[in-house]
Amino acid sequence: MCGIVGYIGHRDAYPIILNGLQRLEYRGYDSAGIALYDGTDIKLSKTKGKVSDLKSKLENEISTEGTLGIGHTRWATHGVPNDVNSHPHYSNSGDLVIIHNGIIENYESLKKELTKRGYTFKSDTDTEVLINLIEDVKKNDDTKLGKAVQVALNQVVGAYAIAVFDKTKPNEIVVARLGSPLAIGIGEDEFFIASDASPFIEYTKNAIYLEDGEMAIVRRHKDIKVRKIKGDAIVDPYVQELKLNLEQIEKGGYEHFMLKEIYEQPSAILDTFRGRLLSKEAIIKMSGVEDNMKKFLNADRIIIVACGTSWHAGLVAEYIFEDLARIPVEVEYASEFRYRNPVITEKDMVIAISQSGETADTLAAIKLAKSKGAFVFGVCNVVGSSIARETDAGAYTHAGPEIGVASTKAFTTQITVLTLMALRLARAKGTISSSDFRMHLLELEMIPQKVEEALKSDSYVQTIADIYKDSKNFLYLGRGYNFPVALEGALKLKEISYIHAEGYPAAEMKHGPIALIDEQMPVVVIATKKGHYDKVVSNIQEIKARKGKIIGIVTKGDESVKALADFVIEVPETLESLSPLLTTIPLQLLSYYIAVYLGKNVDQPRNLAKSVTVE
Ligand code: F6R
Repeated sequence: MCGIVGYIGHRDAYPIILNGLQRLEYRGYDSAGIALYDGTDIKLSKTKGKVSDLKSKLENEISTEGTLGIGHTRWATHGVPNDVNSHPHYSNSGDLVIIHNGIIENYESLKKELTKRGYTFKSDTDTEVLINLIEDVKKNDDTKLGKAVQVALNQVVGAYAIAVFDKTKPNEIVVARLGSPLAIGIGEDEFFIASDASPFIEYTKNAIYLEDGEMAIVRRHKDIKVRKIKGDAIVDPYVQELKLNLEQIEKGGYEHFMLKEIYEQPSAILDTFRGRLLSKEAIIKMSGVEDNMKKFLNADRIIIVACGTSWHAGLVAEYIFEDLARIPVEVEYASEFRYRNPVITEKDMVIAISQSGETADTLAAIKLAKSKGAFVFGVCNVVGSSIARETDAGAYTHAGPEIGVASTKAFTTQITVLTLMALRLARAKGTISSSDFRMHLLELEMIPQKVEEALKSDSYVQTIADIYKDSKNFLYLGRGYNFPVALEGALKLKEISYIHAEGYPAAEMKHGPIALIDEQMPVVVIATKKGHYDKVVSNIQEIKARKGKIIGIVTKGDESVKALADFVIEVPETLESLSPLLTTIPLQLLSYYIAVYLGKNVDQPRNLAKSVTVE
């Protein structure tokens, strides 16, 4: 987690770094800091709080001059969020300064060693240990900063994206990555460093994404030298052309990124289809699947690994892969899978799902599966992310940047990609008839328009949100394809409104959660026409008999649930297998408006970060 930004060139570094940190705040926002080289010395200011807090503090504290600087927005791992633990960190001499995203796992033993050699530490962070280790190597080996960083990193166990500079050689920034992302933007006689490309897209479209285990020396008026951290190999970096534009990362008139992203779902799903779903020709084209068709068809089973919302998308995929393509599927929390010595063979196909492509547990699960000989297919949103590169093949969701911490369009576009895959495999296996296949394609093609229609419930959902905003607990129920949607609805509410919510398979309610139901308990029940409708209606009766408050998510025109429920929110009719793409929309809106009414920070909920790069 944490976002890092750096600049070296001919412009004022401060506004570039400050603006860049604001764009990276989705990665962490408990403290922030900036260090600038003003021509003679390093000027550093940092604080607990958000980048906006830093701005007011910094501008009263230091001069903002300088064409070299680094900045950091933090999600605390070692040491509580406070001013001292905030980055950047100085070395003991005050010559070196560092920003770091990641964790140094062996920092305690390194700290002991350095303490014996006379180093002192102001903060509780692992990062301050690293910068002093670099200083120690530099001093003892009488070497340049680049070499000192390399030697120090070879003593380090953990994950990092770092940027370091030395005030005695203020013409370079040394950067390195292992397990945390790092992009270098290449401008005209200037360089930008950041956790992703968003801080520099208005300045350049050319970027190098460092690979794990690489470091670079970024020199003013010169080239970038990239090398391996282990050994002496020099790397010829690949300069990538960025497709991102400024509009995509701004709020575009919406009050929050989350609302913008909810409303972007019709176009995001269309982008996911583009070039893949060809309904006239009745084909699905996905090169990642096509190129590995044999492996998919010969696989004994598919194991899906993911975390959080992406795990919920995996659960929806379990239903659709088994239902349409008749391939056995297991869905695993990446964090459990990686540590439980799972049975994996070369006949297994692993699908890793991740919006950010940087989730540490998912990455570790991929590495484990690969080490056991499984083929790993990635479903990611962020192009060029670690997971996209670590997997053997994959399909991007093309949802565009998702900045709100609560995942919305990532979820529906993940389901879209996985549905396309399941349909393609079903066709190849012959488990779906051509007429059924055609019907699925036509229905899928209608989904963006139907999502648009589902979004029209917005003002009605606001009314419901206002009525139930003070509830202490919520229950979400769904069956079949909509059981994972119930889990996702509960997660959305918990993470942004801090109201306790649980998702359950509707029929499981009577095995325990029914005891919770009383007149204070709102129960959101997904009861669309297809998919065990009558059974869900019986579950609704059971809730009503216990005086629970019922909010039904129903198919347009439904009358039976309407007669029982306190409120019903309608979604358009579609195939059961595609219904999660619609039923999830009112649940996203409900959690959004409850959080807004409660005055919560919707885009940056407490204790969370967008990209969980620590385990
Ligand atoms: C919830 C949410 C998280 C993520 C999870 C995995 O709204 O955003 O639960 O889904 O941290 O992240 P990715 O998909 O980036 O691997």
